[in-house]
Amino acid sequence: MKIINFGSLNIDNVYNVQEFVKPGQTIFSNSFQIAAGGKGLNQSIAAARAGAQVIHAGCIGSNGSFLADLMQDAGVDISHLLTLDAPTGHTVIEVNSSGQNRIIVHGGTNQMLTQDYLDAVLSKAAPGDLALLQNETNLIASILLKSHEKGLKIAFNPSPMPQDLASLPLHLVDYFMVNELEAAQLANLPADTPYESILDCLAEKYPHAAIIMTLGHNGVLFLRENLRLSHPIFPVEAVDTTAAGDTFCGYFLAALCRNVPIETALREASAASAIAVSRPNAAPSIPLYEEVAYFLRSF
Ligand code: RIB
Repeated sequence: MKIINFGSLNIDNVYNVQEFVKPGQTIFSNSFQIAAGGKGLNQSIAAARAGAQVIHAGCIGSNGSFLADLMQDAGVDISHLLTLDAPTGHTVIEVNSSGQNRIIVHGGTNQMLTQDYLDAVLSKAAPGDLALLQNETNLIASILLKSHEKGLKIAFNPSPMPQDLASLPLHLVDYFMVNELEAAQLANLPADTPYESILDCLAEKYPHAAIIMTLGHNGVLFLRENLRLSHPIFPVEAVDTTAAGDTFCGYFLAALCRNVPIETALREASAASAIAVSRPNAAPSIPLYEEVAYFLRSF
C-alpha cells in the first residue's frame, strides 16, 4: 500500500518571540529562520522517514525548489510535483518561549490544483492505496470523491478547519486525523465538551471511520467501532510544537501501511511527535525512524 498525499508545501517564515504579539503592538523577534513546512510536506516527510512509500501531489512556485529537494532527500516520490508561475504557499509563524505557535498561511500555489491534475495523479493509484489530504489545498471535495471512486482508503486531516465542512463528502473518509478542537468542530459540539463525548458523537456520525484525536499534552485517543485506545505523550522539553501533529499523522499512517497493531502505530507516532516537539521548526524537526526506535528503547 502506498500513500498518495495531495498536500500543501509551504515556506515557513518563523519568528521566535518571548510572547505573541498583541493587537496594535509592534515587537522585535529574538530570531528568524526560513524553513520547509506545510502540513502536506511535513506529513509526506514523516511518512517517508517512517518507511512508507509516499507520492506527494502538489504545486510549488519557482522559489520553492528547496522544498522539492528536501522531500526527495527524505525519499518522497516528487515526480508529480508541479512548478507553477506563482508564489509558493508560505506562512508567518510566531513561536513563543513555551514552544507554542501561531500561524498565518498564504495558500499560493497550494490553491492551484486542477481536476486534470488530480486525474493524472490518481491514474497511478491502485485500489487499497491510501489518499491523504489536509485542508491547505483547493479541490478537497474532488480529492475525496475521486479517491473513493478509485477504491482508495482516505485519511483526512481537516486543518485548517474548512469553512464549508458540512458540504464535504465526509462519509467517504476512513481515517479522521484531528486535534481536540477540530474533533469538536467536526462533531458540531462546543470546544470544552469532554473528549469521550466528542468521540461518541463522531462514532455515531461516521460509523465506519477511525477517529485519531491528538490532545497535545494529554496524548491521543483512537476509536474505531468498538475499539477505543489511548496513548499518553512521552515527556520532553517543548521547544517548538510546530508540525507535532503532522509528524504524528505521517508516522501513524506509515505504521498502518506496515499492518502493525494500532497500539504500535500510536506508540511510534507519539514518540516521533515528542522528538519533533523537542526541536525547532516544522520539517527539519521530523525524526528518522532509527531515532524513533532508539528513543523508544528508553521507555
Ligand atoms: O502544521 C504545521 C504547518 O502548518 C507549518 O509547517 C505551516 O506551514 C502550516 O502549514
